[in-house]
Amino acid sequence: MTTTVDRAALARNEHLTFRANMGVGRHGWLRLTPAYGVRLVRDRLSHLPEGSVITDPFSGTGTTPLAAAELGHFGQSVDVNPFLIWLGTVKTSHYSPETLLAAADATQEVVASARAHPEDNDLWQPSLFKIEKWWSPGALHALKALRASIDQHEGQVKDLLEISLCRSLISCSNAAFNHQSMSFKEGAGESVLFEMDEAEQTFAAFGTEMSSIIESARYDLLGSARVYEGDSREGVRDLKEADLVLTSPPYVNRMSYIRELRPYMYWLRHLDLSSDAGDLDWRAIGGTWGTATSKLNSWQPHTVTPVDDAMRAVCERIATDGGKNGPLLSTYVHKYHHDMWLHFQAITPTLKHGGSVSYIVGNSTFYKHEVPAQEWYAAMLRELGYQAVKVEIIRKRNSNKALFEYEVTGTRP
Ligand SMILES: C[S@@+](CC[C@H](N)C(=O)[O-])C[C@H]1O[C@@H](n2cnc3c(N)ncnc32)[C@H](O)[C@@H]1O
Repeated sequence: MTTTVDRAALARNEHLTFRANMGVGRHGWLRLTPAYGVRLVRDRLSHLPEGSVITDPFSGTGTTPLAAAELGHFGQSVDVNPFLIWLGTVKTSHYSPETLLAAADATQEVVASARAHPEDNDLWQPSLFKIEKWWSPGALHALKALRASIDQHEGQVKDLLEISLCRSLISCSNAAFNHQSMSFKEGAGESVLFEMDEAEQTFAAFGTEMSSIIESARYDLLGSARVYEGDSREGVRDLKEADLVLTSPPYVNRMSYIRELRPYMYWLRHLDLSSDAGDLDWRAIGGTWGTATSKLNSWQPHTVTPVDDAMRAVCERIATDGGKNGPLLSTYVHKYHHDMWLHFQAITPTLKHGGSVSYIVGNSTFYKHEVPAQEWYAAMLRELGYQAVKVEIIRKRNSNKALFEYEVTGTRP
């Protein structure tokens, strides 16, 4: 087993790391609604010896590699989404005191030069559909001016400034996830004064966000991490053999990560055309957004899976009871498990013999028919020779009595 812990650094940073581990720190930089909790991840890592290798094949916001690196391990993860690969990498990087000082100076400079941009300036703005619904004219101007000023920077300083831009664009948005401005924007009218206030609030938010980001980046990581671009249905080169595969994969619920991440992806120029979003979602397991839906209509399996019989019975009921959408949703459920079967086959050789897997996944219902993803995961793992395969309930998901979150575990012989 490789040991990535620098003992001297450990001694120096002990209190910092302890505090960082106790708090949310870098985990709070950007949240993704379906991200699983850092407490669960830390709990699952607690029994591992320092320097263990942990893989998350569905990285999302990078919770697993970050928690692993905080605890002195090597965390590696994979995602198809370029924005999430960037985010995971930035969250798990080491920042020197010099870089953080430079980031603090850059914050002042970015806000000052953004403030100096005249309102009628012809600045770049993302081609987000109906952008005026997301931000007031004042907030939008401020974001565009901040974007232009951030573009003058590079490297880690630019990365941290962009995290702050992402946080600010949420806190200044009209979108429902923003509680702050929801209340005071009502009936605010179109007064110029109000728009200026909005711009000023956006600049202030950017500065405040940046201070807390710099503060949490100061707590260094004992271990390290790598976030790879890749498709977890295929073998991902460069992955080290892991002691543990720990992940929360996409659920069978038609949730689109691209849809949720759109504002960040457009502002950080990972998306330009809405058709790009559909193409990217098609590469994601369970993606059905935009053009991905029409591709699903003509999809055909390339392989059989160990759960085909059980799945066929459920899919037929969904197809029959789902009216006009039934056949599409039936194909969706089939393709999801087909892709997960490809994934389990691809990930197994990257796990050490004796290493274990832990998948946190929810079941789902379509037209009252349960899709027991957890049971089908377990069947696939058994087919691949995993031992001691277990399915345990972690929690109830919401008011729907049939929905739970499960943990599916097993050991590679
Ligand atoms: C439920 S989220 C992961 C949440 C993550 N554990 C966290 O805490 O943020 C699922 C992730 O899987 C990614 N994904 C979907 N299909 C993929 C594939 N074929 N290969 C790699 N990543 C994929 C999505 O982009 C999304 O980020």
